[in-house]
Amino acid sequence: MLHDISATRTGASDIRSYLAEQERKTMLRFLTCGSVDDGKSTLIGRLLYDTRLVFEDQLATLQCDSARYGTADEELDFALLVDGLEAEREQGITIDVAYRFFATAKRKFIVADTPGHLQYTRNMATGASIADLAIVLVDARRGVLPQTKRHSYIASLLGIRHILLAVNKIDLVGHDQAVFEEIAESYRKATAGLGFASVVPIPVSARYGINVAARSPQTSWYEGPTMVEHLENIEVDEDGTTKPFRFPIQYVNRPNLDFRGFAGTIASGTVERGDEIVVAKSGKTSRVKRIVSAGGDLEAAREGQAVTLVLEDEIEASRGNLLTAPDARPHVSNQLAASIVWFGEQAMASGRQYILRTETDSVSATVTALKHRINIDDFAHEASKTLEINEVGVCNLSLQAPIAFDNFIDNRATGAFVLIDRISNATVAAGMILHPLRRAENIHWQALDVDKAARAAQKHQKPVVLWFTGLSGSGKSTIANLLERKLHAGGRHTYLLDGDNVRHGLNRDLGFAEADRVENIRRVGEVAKLMADAGLIVLASFISPFRAERDSVRELLPAGEFVEIFVDTPLAECAERDPKGLYRKAKAGELTNFTGIDSRYEAPEHPEVRLETVGQSPEETVAALESWLIENGYC
Ligand code: ADX
Repeated sequence: MLHDISATRTGASDIRSYLAEQERKTMLRFLTCGSVDDGKSTLIGRLLYDTRLVFEDQLATLQCDSARYGTADEELDFALLVDGLEAEREQGITIDVAYRFFATAKRKFIVADTPGHLQYTRNMATGASIADLAIVLVDARRGVLPQTKRHSYIASLLGIRHILLAVNKIDLVGHDQAVFEEIAESYRKATAGLGFASVVPIPVSARYGINVAARSPQTSWYEGPTMVEHLENIEVDEDGTTKPFRFPIQYVNRPNLDFRGFAGTIASGTVERGDEIVVAKSGKTSRVKRIVSAGGDLEAAREGQAVTLVLEDEIEASRGNLLTAPDARPHVSNQLAASIVWFGEQAMASGRQYILRTETDSVSATVTALKHRINIDDFAHEASKTLEINEVGVCNLSLQAPIAFDNFIDNRATGAFVLIDRISNATVAAGMILHPLRRAENIHWQALDVDKAARAAQKHQKPVVLWFTGLSGSGKSTIANLLERKLHAGGRHTYLLDGDNVRHGLNRDLGFAEADRVENIRRVGEVAKLMADAGLIVLASFISPFRAERDSVRELLPAGEFVEIFVDTPLAECAERDPKGLYRKAKAGELTNFTGIDSRYEAPEHPEVRLETVGQSPEETVAALESWLIENGYC
């Protein structure tokens, strides 16, 4: 029976016993998968309304709005309730997930709700991956759709083990038992390989409240639980306190010289005063001296609590590290395999650097290999070079520095990450770590005696990479070639890496799709770095159309050793010159993915040098470049 907590309790002792009762209740965290069309908003609105926790003022607005805009005749339009909240959220674009809390006599609930199409992907990114159960919503008239399978697959990737299949709008199919059973059966078949511990189908009508909180004579053939009953009673057996202790350090709290504590929220397990702990990345050990919380010192603390831990020894550890149990340590590695769900507008590019962010750590990362893409229809593994928006795959990642983590299957809090685009700052993927890659452990740096400085000194020059970027036909190669001739004549040791030439050898296997261009520049960047290490003045002439890759090459080199030279010739002029006849072909549709025509060029924002070639001879342009190099101490 539902329980109205808002009305009847007034006295102080009532409140105390009420609070104590709330404290004892277990908590169920769930998310809803489905679109507005399936009735998602209406269903959440109905759940909140039927559990009597819609605030009075919201109710008043709802009644008023339903009369004005509602599509539900005389009934309250529950979708308006939720959509109204969504509109509020949209103003604050940083909030991706809204958490709604409600309670019945038996249990407390947290629903993670997300705006429209961002649904599942954003859920993961912002922490709804801790959900115990997913409500998968289908429209009884439409049955199991590809998106239903997609949502379910992603729920399983997220480690969600329980599914409530809400077959909604049962009223619109005449409350027909056969329709319901057919959908339930086809869903079971479609998701048989996903390893859910429970799948409970329920015929519902969110609009009329059928089988949401109360049964209905309309579906007298249905003998299972209502949605609320199921949510109240399901055992989800996910108890994070039984897992090894994991404490991601959010910050080091050092208000004065006498106090130094590590602040954060316990991701899993428990900790007691006196416990031995290990700093994951360094392996240093100490003991917990104090557990400080907002309400004072504690003897012990558990998963979910925000505390500051004071240790007995002054050991080094900063944000991003994990304090952990000594007998069950996390992995520490800079290479790992992971399942990823891509939701960036731009496709994933192997070789591109993204920022990998765990709960508290953040590091540059590259997808080194996409092992396969997963076909959401039949869950088959397919070969692919890239992942488009909403695709799922398994890949290897290489990180610039080691991170501490668990396999996602062992710990959802410390085994998950997101990838962030370095240019737009958008979250483009969510990842679930499968395992560390051991091979990284066996490759070490070999110390060499003759170093870069020695090689450069022998050549009496300062190594540098002069990176020419610009459209095809802009004049990069002509300028680079002329400059190299001059430098060479002046006794400099140089090498010119040129797009067309490198593509005959080292990069013979690459074409002009985005992923290929990313890999082209990654390889050339590494080669340029080696050549600079050999003490050479390197001239690199590549369209290099994407900012992210040019920035990655810049970061490979010490400050000042990468000079970005933007050969800024307008597209119309390049097409007019058309030295290789490629613009003509591209315009005639005989050549696809041609930069400037049907493939983008991202002009540098802050190049060291910008060269205009219109109205100047190549000799004049090179003379200007030479003076810049001399003025800035490069030659
Ligand atoms: S990049 O985009 O990956 O940096 P890169 O500089 O190596 O390109 O190669 C560009 C050269 O390849 C051009 O100068 C042109 O001669 C040739 N080319 C052939 N097809 C294309 C294409 N689709 N887009 C751009 N350049 C092309």
